[in-house]
Amino acid sequence: MSQTTTLIDRNPLKPTLDTLSQSQIEAIRKIPPHDKAGIPELDAQRPVDIFTGQDRFDLEQEKVFRKMPVPITVSTLLEPGSVIAHNGYGLPLLVTRTKSGDLHVFLNACQHKGAKLIEDCEVHKQNKVTCPYHAWTFALDGKLVAAARQETFKNFEKHTRGLAELPSREHAGIVWAVLDREATPDWSSLDDQVDEDFAAMGIPGARVYGRRTFELNANWKVVLEPFLEGYHVQRLHAKSIGQLFADVPNVTDVFGLNIRQISGKVNFTPEALENEGENIHKTVTHAYQVFPNCVVVTSPYYISVMILMPRAPGRTTVEYFMLVPDAPQTEKGEALYEKSYKLVLDVFGGEDFWAAEMSQSGLESGALETTVYSGLEQTILTFYDLLESRL
Ligand code: FES
Ligand SMILES: [Fe+2]
Repeated sequence: MSQTTTLIDRNPLKPTLDTLSQSQIEAIRKIPPHDKAGIPELDAQRPVDIFTGQDRFDLEQEKVFRKMPVPITVSTLLEPGSVIAHNGYGLPLLVTRTKSGDLHVFLNACQHKGAKLIEDCEVHKQNKVTCPYHAWTFALDGKLVAAARQETFKNFEKHTRGLAELPSREHAGIVWAVLDREATPDWSSLDDQVDEDFAAMGIPGARVYGRRTFELNANWKVVLEPFLEGYHVQRLHAKSIGQLFADVPNVTDVFGLNIRQISGKVNFTPEALENEGENIHKTVTHAYQVFPNCVVVTSPYYISVMILMPRAPGRTTVEYFMLVPDAPQTEKGEALYEKSYKLVLDVFGGEDFWAAEMSQSGLESGALETTVYSGLEQTILTFYDLLESRL
């Protein structure tokens, strides 16, 4: 088989069953026909103050978000020779990729007097960053390379004034960092199976078609819950995508602290899997909860990546990325991406995030003491068990 043929066969524009990882294929083959998919009963509740309490928020910050690796952005956003500022966790960060491809995460604070080196959150293609205040200039590896009127500083040692760096690495096509510079980084929460699955889905090499930041008045777990259950889909999304999905349990696998849910859409049948060359994301949805706060969901022509960054008990910053395999080659392709981007923002932004804000206001009203979960929401409890194991 020639290399060209291999590339065409594995063209992620049309992700067929055989392009996926062995583990994904095995999970997909376990999806039962809809009429054989029994939905279990569940008797489970959670106290409302896990969504509203300051103490719980502080505990999650201390034990998880400031100590463990957290997702910052998608790797593919940063080409060699580029830099981006990031404020999602309430900490000013600067993410850079040097010309030679090395990735760094720094605190976005000039070593003269702490000014932010870049204020906006756009990608800047440049090999140096100059502070807007007194024009100190840093290379993308963090070294101070020039200070204006350097001769006016006595005993000045440039090498002691490099940018403050956080431990970081790339994994599964995502940039991860540990926000506490004092913590000894423990990368063991980053799981190899997630890496393998995301590589098979083309995430590390995908193209960012669009990205959007949402500032939500809801706890990050309230924002996350709908991505862990299918119960709301036919109801909340009745006017948009609801008819494409069925009320069926997911085939759920846990890899370390990470969750993979695979479910058959309304048109799924096990026999349809034998149709070689079919776009697998048309009949099957993959949804990942990458610990602690990253959601990845497949659609036939694109993949959604969301990073849910807690800011306060009732406040979350969400960064949404729509990843596509390549730049659109034709007008039809561009129109498809444009339409998809609008639809996904309408569904996630206008429906899921809207519902999260509505829920949060009710939870904060004191009307209920616990939330309650059905057998179609089982994965939420799986996630809470994993999260609580770290608190
Ligand atoms: S604060 Fe950056 S150069 Fe002065
Ligand atoms: Fe939803």
